[in-house]
Amino acid sequence: MCQTALHPFLEVLPKCEHHMHIEGSLEPELLFELAAKNGIALPLAGGGPGLRALRKRYEAFTGLDDFLGYYYVAMSALVDASDFERLAEAYFRRAARQNVRHAEVSFDPQAHSARGVALSTVIEGLTAARERAKRELGISSVLIMCVLRHLPPAEGVALFEEARDAGYFGGSVSDGKNDDKEKEPVLGGIGLDSSEKPFPPELWTELYGAAKKAGVRRTAHAGEEGPAQYIVDSLDMMDAQRIDHGLRSVLAGDEGVTDALLARLVDQKVMLTLCPLSNVRLRCLESVQDFPLRQLLDRGVRFSINSDDPAYFGGYILENYCALQEAFGLSVREWEGIAKGAVMGSWCADRRKWEILSEIEAVAGEWSVELGEQ
Ligand code: ADE
Ligand code: ZN
Repeated sequence: MCQTALHPFLEVLPKCEHHMHIEGSLEPELLFELAAKNGIALPLAGGGPGLRALRKRYEAFTGLDDFLGYYYVAMSALVDASDFERLAEAYFRRAARQNVRHAEVSFDPQAHSARGVALSTVIEGLTAARERAKRELGISSVLIMCVLRHLPPAEGVALFEEARDAGYFGGSVSDGKNDDKEKEPVLGGIGLDSSEKPFPPELWTELYGAAKKAGVRRTAHAGEEGPAQYIVDSLDMMDAQRIDHGLRSVLAGDEGVTDALLARLVDQKVMLTLCPLSNVRLRCLESVQDFPLRQLLDRGVRFSINSDDPAYFGGYILENYCALQEAFGLSVREWEGIAKGAVMGSWCADRRKWEILSEIEAVAGEWSVELGEQ
């Protein structure tokens, strides 16, 4: 919990999260429990550093690949549909306590199929948790199927085709009731994650071309550790509609690219899904104070604030909001603008956007009076 006067407001502010890897919400407690249930020997336990040592190690990542080593090993504890359901249910319950109203949740099917866990198994568990979150917690959600960029592009295309042909993106598979058009698809989009360098955007043109042709929404990690040019190329070559991280679009050092890129992001309303605590843990930034929040606000870039891998990076969405508040001391009205920008960049129906926007207005109105900002 942060010590700022705005903390109680930040807690209740309605939020949209767009950048979280569900496997990255696997807390060590659940990890060890599922590993024991499934008889999986975890090399990271290494005879038993246990929970505290593991958490301590998570504070010492040297960069993205160091983190990913732990991330991929830990997810080997996830085996059957009920494991994925429990994982996602735990996330949704925590998100609900932080007043997340809409969540766009990424997952990495190739990291599971490599261990013999079918795409359908993962989707079954995640879908059950999403449905319960909607019913019991009032959280709407979208599932984003990520392709791992350290694997051959052809395998990503094959995964996309498998999901498309199974009807997960909607449309092609009929259940006999002829009401497919009314249904929300199981998968709401594709993404691209894992090690950024040296896997540049040009490797992914076929995958993203196929997704575009099938009418599937497209986001991609870019500019986390890689250069700002990766962001430009993700827009140009992959026709990505959103950029996960995109941090390097705003940091000094890629002169000649960043200014034009920022103008383009603003002009085309491309949303950056930013993750400050992740950036610090993975040493993309030295501290939260270096997060380019003021530049983003001043330039009018659309962005959202997210947790990325909350079990690994020291917090969920609220802790990310709080870290920014401690560093930058924003006003209620500035947070209202950030929260509304996140709604506008969401992949949900307009009706849902209006619902959340009006919730934000009510909360911001109440708290700006409470905190004497008007
Ligand atoms: N997969 C999970 N977290 C990631 C991150 N921060 N960057 C790239 N791939 C990831
Ligand atoms: Zn990510």
